[in-house]
Amino acid sequence: MSKINTVQKEKIHKILKYYPDNQSALLPILFYLQDENRYLDDMVLWELCEILDMNFQFIKDVAEYYVMLRTQPVGEKLIRVCTNVACTLCGSEELVEYMEEKLRIKVGETSKDGKYSLFTAHCLACCNNGPAIQVNDKYYKHISRKDIDRLLETTDAK
Ligand code: FES
Repeated sequence: MSKINTVQKEKIHKILKYYPDNQSALLPILFYLQDENRYLDDMVLWELCEILDMNFQFIKDVAEYYVMLRTQPVGEKLIRVCTNVACTLCGSEELVEYMEEKLRIKVGETSKDGKYSLFTAHCLACCNNGPAIQVNDKYYKHISRKDIDRLLETTDAK
């Protein structure tokens, strides 16, 4: 069974029209496929290399190089905590430890129920509003432990 469906193939061909060559379009296509599939597994990358007529290992290396791209499954809620200098000075590393305790996972892991994955981030572009975190596509600034509790309650953490 194909991992990239007809609608997705059409979208890929639409994206390709905006770029001078297939390699230039690779990143936007990978982001699109990640949005569609939550992560980029090898089957998707194999099919993509056929569509783009590109080397599989090249595409795989690109997918693994960028931290915003995922080649492993993640939970429904992908939490990223900024641990760059400005946020660390505001207590983000303590927040990471707090979340690890609360979710019973370590950074880079996914909870057993598949609801949460926890990652750190190098910067979320909210440096004057730290500590900053991102949950899926939403950003939260000036986050405290209480905010984490509220956030996890509203997203049904166990
Ligand atoms: S340092 Fe945390 S958002 Fe930039």
